Amino acid sequence: MQKKEIYLITGGLGFIGSNLIRLITNNNSESTIINFDKNTYAGNKDNLKNLIHKNYYFVKGDIKNKKKLYKILLEYKPDYIINLAAETHVDKSINNANEFINTNVNGTYQLLEALKDYQKSIKKKFKVIHVSTDEVYGSLRRNEELFSEQNKYLPNSPYAATKASSDLLVRAYVKTYDLPICITNCSNNYGPYQHPEKLIPVVISSCQNKKSIPVYGNGMQIRDWLHVDDHCEALLLILKNGRIGESYNIGGGNEINNLKLIKLICKIMDKIKPAHIKYQTLIKHVKDRPAHDYRYAINFNKLRSELKWSPLVNFEKGIYDTVLWYNKNQSWVNQIKKRKSYKEWDLTNYKNRGSIK
Ligand code: NAD
Ligand code: TYD
Repeated sequence: MQKKEIYLITGGLGFIGSNLIRLITNNNSESTIINFDKNTYAGNKDNLKNLIHKNYYFVKGDIKNKKKLYKILLEYKPDYIINLAAETHVDKSINNANEFINTNVNGTYQLLEALKDYQKSIKKKFKVIHVSTDEVYGSLRRNEELFSEQNKYLPNSPYAATKASSDLLVRAYVKTYDLPICITNCSNNYGPYQHPEKLIPVVISSCQNKKSIPVYGNGMQIRDWLHVDDHCEALLLILKNGRIGESYNIGGGNEINNLKLIKLICKIMDKIKPAHIKYQTLIKHVKDRPAHDYRYAINFNKLRSELKWSPLVNFEKGIYDTVLWYNKNQSWVNQIKKRKSYKEWDLTNYKNRGSIK
């Protein structure tokens, strides 16, 4: 018989959160899931439109609201809490860091305070994951060792600095108040339901609309891509078996530079949606992102050896399926692009990138 586990997911209307909720419901039909999300510009109820699960509850709420968080904790008494709620777009953080500090730093602090009170008022055990990023470690040079959990925190963007700050707060609350939390630092995710502001959806959408594909600077920056399903599997494993107070790096072992990745996507588009042009001809180099990190790459030996996790999705197949998904779900992207928030950002980003070279 399946256990009646209770999950509280913050940020469950976003890219990773919605994929995670789908995975939990597929794994365990007896689970209860509370999705606590502010539904910001990055949240999207359509991400879970097709979810059929008897014990799924959406609560509109802000993680900065400790009172509401505490009330929900007491009402549902979750066994597992996963904090995914955050402002996540690096370019937006460079443009204006205010909401990043509000949500990622102060929001995490309020959540920790609510958890502290929750721990005091209930007898049962619970466990928490604070989901963070490899960007807290800064940037690697070409031949430098991959990021391990021992690396110093050297964030370069306001986004990364706020995530690093939240990780440090979590660490302090584990040490000071014995809160049962693990931190995860994951590399770049890809897959269905990623907001159209991020690189892979930008490239696919530009191809579909025969618009320029904006490559920041020379496009030689390297990212280590991981399919969102692999990330979600790792989170559930760490939730069950990770050691409290520990950090776990999660990565795909798929280092590729932006230009190569963009060309790969263009080739897939040539195959599945042939046009009168080769999509690669749409590539345009634009003004670089300030303090653009050159390389992220993850050493996930700790997760592999302690919890026997390794990524399962083949990179080429995962990218191919993602391009297919975005072609089948163009209306999902178009709905977001119609929003005022998207249009405003598109204009700001266009100005920030300067004229296309
Ligand atoms: P996303 O931007 O797609 O979704 C974020 C979600 O959080 C949205 O649903 C939004 O409505 C919600 N949210 C924002 N502020 C909130 C607040 N104050 N209160 C409640 N909800 C709020 O982000 P994502 O890509 O799904 O990332 C989720 C988490 O994973 C983030 O913490 C991010 O730093 C981390 N992460 C992401 C990646 C990646 O490649 N996407 C990689 C490593 C780590
Ligand atoms: P992004 O998806 O924003 O993730 P992150 O900045 O968190 O790694 O960007 C991935 C890489 O792609 C990053 O090096 C910036 C670059 N990029 C572009 O070249 N063009 C774009 O339009 C975007 C959004 C990103």
